[in-house]
This record gives sequence, structure tokens and C-alpha cells, in this order.
Amino acid sequence: MSRAACLLVIISLMSPAAEALDNGLALKPTMGWLHWERFMCNIDCDTDPNNCISERLYMQMADVMVKEGWKEAGYEYVCIDDCWPSHQRDAQGRLQADPKRFPGGIKKLADYIHSKGLKLGIYADVGDKTCAGYPGSLGYYEKDAQTFADWDVDLLKFDGCFMNRALLGEGYSNMSKALNNTGRPILYSCEWPLYEWPLKQPNYTAIRETCNHWRNFDDVFDSWSSVKSILDWTAAHQDIIVPAAGPGGWNDPDMLVIGNFGLSHDQQESQMALWAIMASPLLMSNDLRDICPRSKELLQNKRIIDISQDSMGKQGYRTAKGNNFEVWERPLSKNRLAVAVLNKLETGGPRGFNIGAAPGWKICGPQCNVTQILPQYKEMGVQTQQSKIIVSVNPSGTALLTVTPISSDFTRLHKLNWQGTFVRRKHTIL
Ligand code: GAL
Repeated sequence: MSRAACLLVIISLMSPAAEALDNGLALKPTMGWLHWERFMCNIDCDTDPNNCISERLYMQMADVMVKEGWKEAGYEYVCIDDCWPSHQRDAQGRLQADPKRFPGGIKKLADYIHSKGLKLGIYADVGDKTCAGYPGSLGYYEKDAQTFADWDVDLLKFDGCFMNRALLGEGYSNMSKALNNTGRPILYSCEWPLYEWPLKQPNYTAIRETCNHWRNFDDVFDSWSSVKSILDWTAAHQDIIVPAAGPGGWNDPDMLVIGNFGLSHDQQESQMALWAIMASPLLMSNDLRDICPRSKELLQNKRIIDISQDSMGKQGYRTAKGNNFEVWERPLSKNRLAVAVLNKLETGGPRGFNIGAAPGWKICGPQCNVTQILPQYKEMGVQTQQSKIIVSVNPSGTALLTVTPISSDFTRLHKLNWQGTFVRRKHTIL
């Protein structure tokens, strides 16, 4: 192949399947904090002032994000979910924040968040009402988009409750246009496919052109069964959803629940590793004011965040499964590969897995360099295709590694990495 043809093949392999929403945002998976899973619709500020949905909560979270290294680690968006507005629109028909819980209003809150070098996200709904029964945006898309822009909001999570499912696409796309027309860059987080799946297979080309990320599946709960169900759904639908992901638009498997109550440390490591492999937004829903040091260290682990934020922006696949192990692999820039090995057996102790059995290991011919990131950081040095490295994986835990090929023959490597590993999507049975 000529040099030019080779370059073309590389460029076409690197571009995502469809055009992303052209607002210049979410070129890497969004990082930040979102209140829902941890704080839900707690509006009782009289008895629970510390945890209720109020301006104080977001201001405190922003303060901690700056002071405790979250911002430096890349977490940028502080996001409000449902239950922030007043039940009535104002005299001009505009949404307004609940006056008791947000006495300063959203514009002032945005100013505060911006003064910390962070960004503010807000929540609304494509239908008549939000899921918790607050005013929906149906009939008010332009007005609400303009209101959010006037308040200097940076992200909108747009839910899909109380909407005629046949009109979801029209609604999501009209709000996308309304946001665009304000002239303010507002990252657009959708739940369109989640609400459409019961009706028909969503059109991911249209979704990618409309939204910066999109929820496909149920809400995450603070439990291992919930995290597992999200992984299972993603693997079962990967051929449909993975090609849609890329710079500007991402599949959203919902919030990180690391640092809460329901996941063991191994399970927290699994969520962090797999969310990085899935090129998911990293939106934590936890209490950053009170989080255990191990969870904090995991959420701020630079090597995992680097996988999540890899510049090539390709989502990974589950590439092999068997013997209660799953292998998930994500192609990274510079022909590298991230490999996650999840031990799904929830009994017994640590089990060994021969990493040479991972389908992507073929990039180790003639040689590769291996770094283990989870459960411990360890340089494993130069390996070959024949190396037998056994990684130990705890029940419901994950071993995470990066593999860097060593070769001067770029073209051959490229073929192996891209065509050998990732065009074939059939599962290997271990
Ligand atoms: C759900 C949505 C959740 C949360 C909740 C608020 O439909 O998926 O993430 O936003 O509504 O009521």
C-alpha cells in the first residue's frame, strides 16, 4: 500500500461512524459530579440542611473539588439534577429555582462555580414534567434554552419522562437546536435512547448528531447488581452502540457510585476500570465532603483517568468471556491497548488469569511493554506473544493493564491492532 493510501485507511479508521453534535464540546468524556444517585430528591432543608438539594450543596461540592484535588484530576462540571425548580414558572413563563433552597438563584450559583474555575450543569425534561414531577420543558424549549444561557449554565441534562415516545426524537432535536441558537456552548446530555428502546432500536447516527452524551439504560443504583446489569446491557448491545461513540458524543452508562455505601473496594475498582474502558462520562454521585481515602485515590487515579480521556476517543468492547472472567479491551492512541479482566465469580478468593489469553495480546508480537494499573500499579516490563503472565483478580474485582507494542514496523502493527483485534467483534470464549 502506498504511504498516502495507508494514511487514508488510518484516518478513516480513526474517525467515528457519524458526525458529532457540532458544538465543540465533550471532545473527551465529560468529568464532574452530579447529585442524583447520592442526594436524589431530598428537598427537606429544615431537617437535613447538609444534604438537601440547595445552592449550598453545589457550592460546598465546588469548594471541595478545588481544595481536594478533584479539579486538578480533571473533574470539572458540578451538576444539578431533578428537584431544583419551583413548581411554578414565573410571570414570563420562565423556569425559576425554588426560592427557599436557592435564594441566590441559578445565575449567582453559576457565577460562584465559575469563580472556582468549574462549570455548572442543570437538569430539565423533554416532556410535560420532570421524572420527579417538576415543570417540564415541552412547549418551552426556546424559552428554557435561553434561560439556561442567560444564567451562564454550561451543561443541560435533558430527561425523557412524561413524553409521547413517538415524539422523543423531535423533542430532543428541537432542544439541541434551541441550545445551539443561544450562542452559548452548552453541553447536551440526553436520555433519548433510554426512553426509545422500548419502542424501537434508536437511530444512533441521529443521536450522535444531536447530543454530547446519551443514556441507554436504567439508572445506576448503589449496588454491584446495578453496575453488573449496566455492563451486561452494554456488552449485549455493543455492536450497535460502541461505533457511535467518539470525540463529541459518548454512550453514558450513568454515574460513578464509588465512595458511597453499596460497593466493596474491588467492585469500586471494577466500576472505575470499566467506565474508563467504555469511554463513559465520569460523573461521580457521592459526597465529596466525606469520602474514604481509598475511594478518593481510586477516583483520582491518573493512569485510569488517562485511559478514560485518551485522545483517540474510541470506546472499548467486551472481547472475551468464559470461566467467569470477562475481558474488555479499549484501543488507545499510539497503538496502545487497555485491557480489563473482570472476575465475575462471586465466591472463593483471588483467581489467576493468563493475560496472554486476551484477544488483544496479539499486539505483543514481537514485543510489548505491559503496565498493570489495578489492583496495584506494577511495571511488568517487556513481554512477547508467548509470555505467560498470570494476573490475580479478586471476586467481583478487575485487573486493569495497558499494553504498548514495541516495533519499528508501524504498518504491520497497525493492521494487527485495528483489523486483527477490533474489526472482529465476535466474542472469544476463554
Ligand atoms: C431519571 C433519570 C435519573 C434522574 C431522575 C430524576 O429518569 O434517569 O438519572 O435524573 O430521573 O428524577
